[in-house]
Amino acid sequence: MSFKVPRGTQDILPEQTPKWQKVESVLRELSRVYRYKEIRTPMFEQTELFQRSVGDTTDIVQKEMYTFEDRGGRSLTLRPEGTASTVRAYVEHKMFGVPDQPMKLSYIGPMFRYERQQAGRYRQFVQFGVEAIGSSDPAIDAEVIALAMDVYQSVGLKDIKLHLNSLGDKETRDAHRTALINHFKPSISEFCNDCQNRLEKNPLRILDCKVDHEHPLMGTAPKLTDYLNESSARYFEKVKEYLEILGIDYEVDPNLVRGLDYYNHTAFEIMSTASGFGAITTLCGGGRYNGLVSEMGGPDLPGIGFALSIERLLLALEAEGIELDVEDSLDIYVVAMGEEAKKKSVELLSSFRAKGISAEMDYIDRKMKAQMKSADRLGAKYVIVIGETELEEASVNIKEMQSGNEEKVELSELVNYLLEHK
Ligand code: HAM
Repeated sequence: MSFKVPRGTQDILPEQTPKWQKVESVLRELSRVYRYKEIRTPMFEQTELFQRSVGDTTDIVQKEMYTFEDRGGRSLTLRPEGTASTVRAYVEHKMFGVPDQPMKLSYIGPMFRYERQQAGRYRQFVQFGVEAIGSSDPAIDAEVIALAMDVYQSVGLKDIKLHLNSLGDKETRDAHRTALINHFKPSISEFCNDCQNRLEKNPLRILDCKVDHEHPLMGTAPKLTDYLNESSARYFEKVKEYLEILGIDYEVDPNLVRGLDYYNHTAFEIMSTASGFGAITTLCGGGRYNGLVSEMGGPDLPGIGFALSIERLLLALEAEGIELDVEDSLDIYVVAMGEEAKKKSVELLSSFRAKGISAEMDYIDRKMKAQMKSADRLGAKYVIVIGETELEEASVNIKEMQSGNEEKVELSELVNYLLEHK
């Protein structure tokens, strides 16, 4: 009997984790300077939370959720995204009562969607996201977008593009919805079953259909941007103005509708334009959700945020041929010859590590030559060999591997020597 990781999931092996840790440290540092405080919510929630927030008619809720009943008969769902949980926690803990608003939160953790497996699409993936709740200042929209762009710039990606749209307010969406129904209704029988169901429930989702995207009526469909009322249009203009102040290039994309129901006004996605990147080019998605906090039982407060997956960020790096500068250094390898020398090595390693010096030795009884080879493979900066003579003299020759230079150092002085030289 042999076992494999579940379809759509992956093991991240020790040779890959330094890259992940590097990206995570960039994300944490950017959250710090933009001041989005980390929140950690459970990995599962009441199923209804996602039905109400992400939306009953979305692909996520209809086809992609990992939903199960627990032993107490409650319907629970592994979180498919982080906004619903964050807003739930914001309301539950009355964070709107904190004097300094907006509340700026960030999160990082696994999300689960039962999607068709393909490059860049996993069933468990790690999202980093931010949410700013309690402000409808277009400057905060620009800040959230700037933070997302900063993530990609900080890891060195160049081939990225920001797509921007406005979904307007409720009045805008109602007018657009009626226009869409009138547009598609006469020919709806030519569309897939999903689209036929979407016509009355959520016609905007037809524009996002993966099956019928080449139908001629798609290209001529009424565009949301043509239905923006005056206040929505003004809001959108201000967001663009702030992006210009920040020097962030964007392309207005009237077809950008996003796959979740809670959005209004600003919606955006960041795509990879690298030639080696697969079919799924969206690296990051987000937008404004002004009705969500009240929908979750809180006061009528606005919000905006985004999420991106680390998996797709790493794929984009690969497509652009960018190697992250990851640190995996070994300061010293101690080669021990004989039982007494081994005892001394154990003691030395402990004193090195207590001072933050990374140190390694042999634990499988290898001969000296094999231990030296191992030190080389591990990229040790320094190597010492301890045998009878070294123990007697209480000193060793410390060898700097790159130059081959050796220096005699007393055993009791090794820590200080390494602290000075490492
Ligand atoms: P989303 O567009 O569903 O939005 O997902 C955001 C990002 O998560 C995508 O752009 C992509 O990078 C990543 N992602 C989604 N599904 C997968 C998958 N199956 N495999 C790998 N990566 C994936 C949201 O989740 C919203 N909660 C974003 C948001 C936050 N809006 C406002 N605040």
